[in-house]
Amino acid sequence: MTKPARAACVIGWPAKQSRSPRLHGYWIRKYGIDGDYRIEEQPPEAFAAFLRDLEAHGYVGANVTMPHKDAAFALSQPDDRARAVGAANTLWLERGALKSTNTDVEGFVAALDESAPGWDRRGRAAIVLGAGGAGRAIAYGLLDRGLRTVHVVNRTLAKAEEIRARFGSGIEPATWDDLPQLMREASLLANATSLGMVGKDARRIDLSALPDDAVVADAVSVPLVTPLLDAALRRGLTTSNGLGMLLHQAVRGFELWFGVRPRVTEELRRLIAADIPPR
Ligand code: ATR
Repeated sequence: MTKPARAACVIGWPAKQSRSPRLHGYWIRKYGIDGDYRIEEQPPEAFAAFLRDLEAHGYVGANVTMPHKDAAFALSQPDDRARAVGAANTLWLERGALKSTNTDVEGFVAALDESAPGWDRRGRAAIVLGAGGAGRAIAYGLLDRGLRTVHVVNRTLAKAEEIRARFGSGIEPATWDDLPQLMREASLLANATSLGMVGKDARRIDLSALPDDAVVADAVSVPLVTPLLDAALRRGLTTSNGLGMLLHQAVRGFELWFGVRPRVTEELRRLIAADIPPR
């Protein structure tokens, strides 16, 4: 077998659980590209050296996942999005320089546009649950899209306050106790905590105060229907799931590495969904 012309990888610790090889592998076949996408498990202490030698390892770029997103940011030349979020998930080599971006931002927004067209035209505030890396990316994406008020609800209020310091007065830090009151005026509730992820705590969130036209989104992609999304569906609300975000965040990396802008299709969605527990 000859070596593929271009290859990319996902670097994580662990990384075996990543759905990215299946996703990029599908597009590589679909577009007839002479390329490859592999998993690279690298412990934190080996990450910097691996990135430095990325080209020598045979790669034109990479995705990075837990726990390397902050280090990837620090070790590369970040674009505006990565800089705003303070973390990178997509890297590529450009004339010998290692560049980075954060595609969680556009992944989340593109998934919403697909599942809930018009979600941003309600003129009311959004609520983001969580103030970690995912919370920062989503809050940034919402402000960037033109929303005027984004309430960031977090157990540790100081982290929500940091997001306000970073992105300005459009961010309103809040506690979980504020949530029922905030819901009454919200057009979007987005979960960016690990709550509801397989194997993690779930927390019953009473959605009764949300308006009937509110949209509920979850960044958690495993399971496909998180307890939060389940509660939203039971209430008849429009939802956007973490699988949509996962698929859409992958588009730009593929384009940067392989030169083709891939499409997120129903066929792809079914292929990846088949590999994820439904509930
Ligand atoms: P990521 O980068 O994926 O966002 P993270 O930085 O570890 O991951 O952030 C996890 C988020 O889930 C945080 O907002 C965390 O709240 P704290 O900042 O207060 O820790 C939130 N989270 C995790 N477990 C939680 C729980 N049991 N109840 C409420 N929030 C929780």
